[in-house]
Amino acid sequence: MKAKFKKNPVPARWRQEIHSILIPEPQIARRVKSVAREIGRDFRGRELVVVAVLNGTVLFLADLVRHLNLPLRLDFVGVSSYGAGTKSGKLVFTKELRLDVRGRDVLLVDDILDTGKTLSRVRAKLLRLKPRRLKTCVLLDKPARRVRKIQADYVGFQIPDHFVVGYGLDFDERYRNLPFVGILRSPLDSTAS
Ligand code: IMP
Ligand code: MG
Repeated sequence: MKAKFKKNPVPARWRQEIHSILIPEPQIARRVKSVAREIGRDFRGRELVVVAVLNGTVLFLADLVRHLNLPLRLDFVGVSSYGAGTKSGKLVFTKELRLDVRGRDVLLVDDILDTGKTLSRVRAKLLRLKPRRLKTCVLLDKPARRVRKIQADYVGFQIPDHFVVGYGLDFDERYRNLPFVGILRSPLDSTAS
């Protein structure tokens, strides 16, 4: 589903930092429910191991699993690209998987598929552990910046090439708590407003 631009005013509290709302809260809620239904149909009652990439998935994951009509176990991997900012650099694992996924049905969840480096790296690592089935799910897909040939099996919204924050996504660990997905003002224009 493509995120549509609609005029939604940014709450006054965030106006200095957030340029505009790309995906408002009700639209996220509806889409997350329908993605969960799709996953439920595909895995048809099998027990899932949901592997979520920290930290950006926290809000999306909490909503997604509540609508997943399947028995599941949750685990997390930590992947960090070096340094703060909007560029993704060298990847390091900051938390390893704890559950055994061999022979299991696995759903790998991330916040956003951007260059594709993170998802392809984590996916390859999971595949080495020999799951029965591995599917990938992302809230957002920004195909414009892809450098790895990877697509997610379940995508919440395809978005244009903007740096977005909120609903789990951060800039320098900030803005994860915003209930909507918003476009961050560039540091240059935030001083001007
Ligand atoms: P990739 O490895 O380039 O695909 O990037 C994946 C990671 O980069 C995501 O899990 C995010 O943490 C981060 N990222 C990429 N684009 C954005 C964005 O627009 N806003 C916030 N974080 C982003
Ligand atoms: Mg991040």
